[in-house]
Amino acid sequence: MDNFTYSYPTKVYFGEGAASQALSRELKNVKGKVMLAYGGGSIKANGIYDEIKNLLAQAGKEVIDFSGIMSNPTYAKAQEGAGLAKENNVGFIIAAGGGSVIDCCKVISAQAMLDEDIFDMEYVSGKFPDGGIPVGAVVTASGTGAEMNAGAVITVEDKKWKGPIFGTAPSFAALDPAYTASVPRMQVLSGAFDTLSHAMETYLGNSDEDNVSDDVALAIMRNTVVNMRRLLTDINDMQARGNLMWDSAMAENGILKAGRLTDFQAHQIEHQLGAYTDCNHGQGLAVIHPAYYRHILKDADKKFTRLAKTVFNADTAEAGIDALENFIKECGLPTRLKELKSTAEITPELLRKVADTCNIIKCNPRELDRDEIYEILLECM
Ligand code: NZQ
Ligand code: ZN
Repeated sequence: MDNFTYSYPTKVYFGEGAASQALSRELKNVKGKVMLAYGGGSIKANGIYDEIKNLLAQAGKEVIDFSGIMSNPTYAKAQEGAGLAKENNVGFIIAAGGGSVIDCCKVISAQAMLDEDIFDMEYVSGKFPDGGIPVGAVVTASGTGAEMNAGAVITVEDKKWKGPIFGTAPSFAALDPAYTASVPRMQVLSGAFDTLSHAMETYLGNSDEDNVSDDVALAIMRNTVVNMRRLLTDINDMQARGNLMWDSAMAENGILKAGRLTDFQAHQIEHQLGAYTDCNHGQGLAVIHPAYYRHILKDADKKFTRLAKTVFNADTAEAGIDALENFIKECGLPTRLKELKSTAEITPELLRKVADTCNIIKCNPRELDRDEIYEILLECM
């Protein structure tokens, strides 16, 4: 194991009634108005909005609504939210949604307490915010694990860039599997694939010594695959949804990353693809993973073989990647870029731009150059 320090800021409420428990306990000492931030309206259709509003009314809180946070949240939207929070002296932010809403709120929280522009602060001055309006996450779509960390993934549209901005980690996360009941099937499976990806990407970082974090990562991968298969039989299997909700949180709460470096090259490629196409994150990963893994297979044969055996019951590294690809097909997730819903036509020219601008990881089994990333993307067409 590499050296590490582990401490965690997010208190988790899991299971039936999690949101009502969390809000009644955590908002007691909150001063000022509460911002209720959400996405395009799913929480109004499924009743979660009314539930939260009632809980806030019971707690005597004045509520400021902030709606319309889009999937792949933009920097402009986060700035709009920060302006509203500042103007209203908001004392607490409730992020009710999936990864997009939660990430946007992390940045709203930090930006609202800053005089300078947070992107410039982090990427020009190399400084990071040391405070923010407290945020609580009520998770309505799981997979990203965004509720368990301070990193927000934001699209800066005019820069054609999608990447991390460090904001405020949620002080609590309410995880009630029933809150995910109305998530469309494809989003449920894309989200769960994102979780599988997080565990694989963490495991494939190049810290190769015997490591308890790897054993935990393999267990999360296996559990994610088992429960995704349960959902293929019955998408409303709430026990499976619950397992996946905790798998998702576990994959991003730092436990798997303790004492090791991580890979996340597939994520870097997908994020930049997202900057150009606004594609769904989990679905973009489903397309990229098998192609990327075939490129680095020989650089981490032992690890891929262990993953193949433990997660897919396959004998060799190659058979494991075939099994991963077959699993993606079994889930009905896309395997080609042309299957992704995209705002731009996915051409070789666009893919060259993605390859030329994505972040390159140095602690994966082998550092790739931009031509090889382009090759991988062409293989995904
Ligand atoms: O906007 P609404 O109407 O809420 O609809 C959303 C959205 O269309 C819908 N949805 C959410 N809860 C629902 C529901 N529909 C019905 N019933 C419910 N209960 O689901 C759709 C997708 O939501 P979104 O939040 O965009 O999905 P996801 O959770 O997959 O988040 C994706 C974002 O998270 C980032 C991704 O890059 C992407 O921007 N990530 C964040 C990470 C982090 N902070 O740790 C790590 C990940 O690797 C990832 O990059
Ligand atoms: Zn992800």
